Amino acid sequence: MKRHLITSAIPYINGIKHLGNLVGSQLPADLYARYLRARGHEVLFLCATDEHGTPAELAAAKAGKPVEEYCAEMHDVQARIAEGFGLSFDHFGRSSSLQNQKLTQHFAGALYDQGLIEEVEQRQIYSETDGRFLPDRYVEGTCPNCGFEDARGDQCDNCTKQLDPEDLINPRSTVSGATDLEMRATKHLFLRQSQMKDKLDEWINSKADWPVLTTSIAKKWLHDGDGLQDRGITRDLDWGVPVKRGDKDWPGMEGKVFYVWFDAPIEYIACAQEWVDAGKGSDWESWWRTDKGADDVRYTQFMGKDNVPFHTLSFPATIMGSNEPWKLVDYIKSFNYLTYDGGQFSTSRGRGVFMDQALEILPADTWRWWLLSHAPETSDAEFTWENFQASVNKDLADVLGNFISRITKFCRSKFGEEVPAAGEYGPAEHALIADLTEKVAQYEKLMEAMEVRKSATELRAIWAAGNEYLQAEAPWSTFKTDPDKAAAQVRLALNLIPLYAVLSGPFIPTAAASMLQSMHVDDAAWPDDVPAALGQLAPGHAFDVPEVLFTKITDEQREEWAEKFAGVRA
Ligand code: 2FM
Ligand code: ZN
Repeated sequence: MKRHLITSAIPYINGIKHLGNLVGSQLPADLYARYLRARGHEVLFLCATDEHGTPAELAAAKAGKPVEEYCAEMHDVQARIAEGFGLSFDHFGRSSSLQNQKLTQHFAGALYDQGLIEEVEQRQIYSETDGRFLPDRYVEGTCPNCGFEDARGDQCDNCTKQLDPEDLINPRSTVSGATDLEMRATKHLFLRQSQMKDKLDEWINSKADWPVLTTSIAKKWLHDGDGLQDRGITRDLDWGVPVKRGDKDWPGMEGKVFYVWFDAPIEYIACAQEWVDAGKGSDWESWWRTDKGADDVRYTQFMGKDNVPFHTLSFPATIMGSNEPWKLVDYIKSFNYLTYDGGQFSTSRGRGVFMDQALEILPADTWRWWLLSHAPETSDAEFTWENFQASVNKDLADVLGNFISRITKFCRSKFGEEVPAAGEYGPAEHALIADLTEKVAQYEKLMEAMEVRKSATELRAIWAAGNEYLQAEAPWSTFKTDPDKAAAQVRLALNLIPLYAVLSGPFIPTAAASMLQSMHVDDAAWPDDVPAALGQLAPGHAFDVPEVLFTKITDEQREEWAEKFAGVRA
């Protein structure tokens, strides 16, 4: 048994995430957390809402609410949706928590003491029309690197280059569209990341087992152009963590807050404190402090590729730079993008399916299965309604659902609702058991390696093996000539159901739970020994024929939804 700390990138507070966001962080993190728990490991799985920054301020203003109130409400909305998707966080925290405020100020103080924070007299874009300094991402213009016309002031979404707003050609305010922007003087804090370049480089180079997507992005930022830049970590905003050094005021920094990307990853740590303070755990330090036992913890982070620079460089710079014994991440699993029907998901245009809408039309398991089995791991992946309909109808209804309903109904009709006792296993049964033993071992290997798509493929093959066995052995035919042999076939097939339930739990937890329930199995242990697990339901064990587990998506539904989610969300 090991101790596993797992975090998913924390979603911004303003607005509900779309399915592309979900499959790039929270969902695969949940898959891994559920798998590790099922294998008996101790898991602390944390996520939170990312509540600071201008987007939250502006969204609150638009909703006509004080920002604290807006964030509290939106946090609850996101928490409910996460629950609806079966995301099994041990705690779903808030980056605006007092714990995070204190810890962020603590880190700033520690970094200052290490000589890693510089006060810089800076000129910043001020919008006369808007009457305010514009944060980086509220300036858009043409990317100097690739010519993309809608590059943001902090990063170009087209070529992923991190930018400063004054790099943009023809800059404009995204608040008002105003172009009467001018540079004005103000003072800001900079984290001297460049001082840590060699250390970060060495650290990234030691991670030979990390996904190429993760390390290639990190190396790009370390070595491209001028290499790792020092980063401004303060902003002229009201909403955020007030700039302090520990609990001391910071002269000259009055009225400023830390940049949201400085405090957001620190929330991973603060969230563990919130978990303890909420009475759900007793000790956060053993997860996060290497002087308090966290050396034994394996820490895995999940995120979309746009988040990788912050997690491979900026946050590690904060941790390493503090010169305190904080836990560093052991493995970063990153994802490409999921596209929607030939284009991008768009929050502003309401294009694509958002998490709340998804749950309104279909059960969470249906989405979980499709998204995870099509996770954008090695390249971007595309959601189309045709593929969605075909995949879930086939995998869930025709293969898994059909197997379960066919065998339980057949048993009920010939032997009653209990596992039949007669008959012995023959070569076909032994072959199936051997085949499944091998497949389960392969599945475990892939799940351990967080190969999400390949794990889904293996699980599908495990389901299919049962279906093929039934098809080939056809107990309904056997029954006519050799009822005892049919009884043995049914006994084995029924025993596949709890096995399938436990193996499938990380992907489709709700269906897995109802499979176990209908088979009257409470103790859902992982099948460490597959042949033994396949003898779990002894002769005479009672069961119920389950309700239909998965209903098929009809062509009418598919057409209706394709139209409904094509754009413009209210
Ligand atoms: O991309 C996002 O949704 C960000 N809010 C992720 C932040 S992850 C972190 F570092 F906390
Ligand atoms: Zn660009």
